[in-house]
Amino acid sequence: MRHDGKMILFIGVSRSGKSVPVKRIVEKQKRVLAFDPKGEYVAQMGFKGFTDKGEFLKAVRNCSGAGKFALIASDPKSFQFFCDVAFNWNRQAPAAIVCEELAAVTNSSKAAGAWGRLINQGLAYQPLIIGTVQRGQEVDKTLMNNASFVHVCRHNTDDDAAYIASKLGIPVTEIPREPLQFFQWTSDKGIVCRGVIDFKGASGKNWKEGSPRFRAKGKAKLLTLTDSGEFQGVIYR
Ligand SMILES: Nc1ncnc2c1ncn2[C@@H]1O[C@H](COP(=O)(O)OP(=O)(O)OP(=O)(O)O)[C@@H](O)[C@H]1O
Ligand SMILES: [Mg+2]
Repeated sequence: MRHDGKMILFIGVSRSGKSVPVKRIVEKQKRVLAFDPKGEYVAQMGFKGFTDKGEFLKAVRNCSGAGKFALIASDPKSFQFFCDVAFNWNRQAPAAIVCEELAAVTNSSKAAGAWGRLINQGLAYQPLIIGTVQRGQEVDKTLMNNASFVHVCRHNTDDDAAYIASKLGIPVTEIPREPLQFFQWTSDKGIVCRGVIDFKGASGKNWKEGSPRFRAKGKAKLLTLTDSGEFQGVIYR
């Protein structure tokens, strides 16, 4: 049983390593929906994928226990539909809800519509909401101000780096500027882990070319989530 709803956010340029840690988290979850513009959760993670909204709804509705489903779409209307389905499914039993590439489907003011309901009222029903976005400026205020965990990957421009540094209350020199570097920040503790990803782990079902290892600096532990959605620090060897 999950105790608290959580919103977590992954920010960084394209190919910076946002989706890789998201996939590591959802691998462990039993009940997951993904808004999946690239179809990557279907191709790589074995989710059941749907391009048809009606078929997606039917499959999700029929699943009261474990299940992983992806809506392959990238337009705002489909995203609102997805959020509505996710809100109801999560009410039935706690679920993880992955929203990839939020900038294409939300705006930077307050979260609205079914998305607003999911992240405002939804938290009372203990969902784990995971969003990815390339620039902090594109995240809506509701999510930005309520995220309890932010995973920051490479930024390419000084403007983008300055924006996210000021939002998180940290020096701009902390913002990763090299490939696959990251840090993790929580609203209680600030930066809890800095590091870089490599793919030298053993290959497996979902990671044919080698599984990712999150090499943390010093003795810091990588912040991730247990299968019941609790925060957990892990050390990759
Ligand atoms: N198993 C793997 N082995 C080697 N490299 C990988 C593996 N999985 C991902 N990568 C590489 O890691 C990098 C980060 O990938 P990731 O999908 O996390 O990027 P992203 O930040 O989500 O990008 P986008 O915004 O384009 O979705 C990419 O260059 C990708 O090719
Ligand atoms: Mg991605």
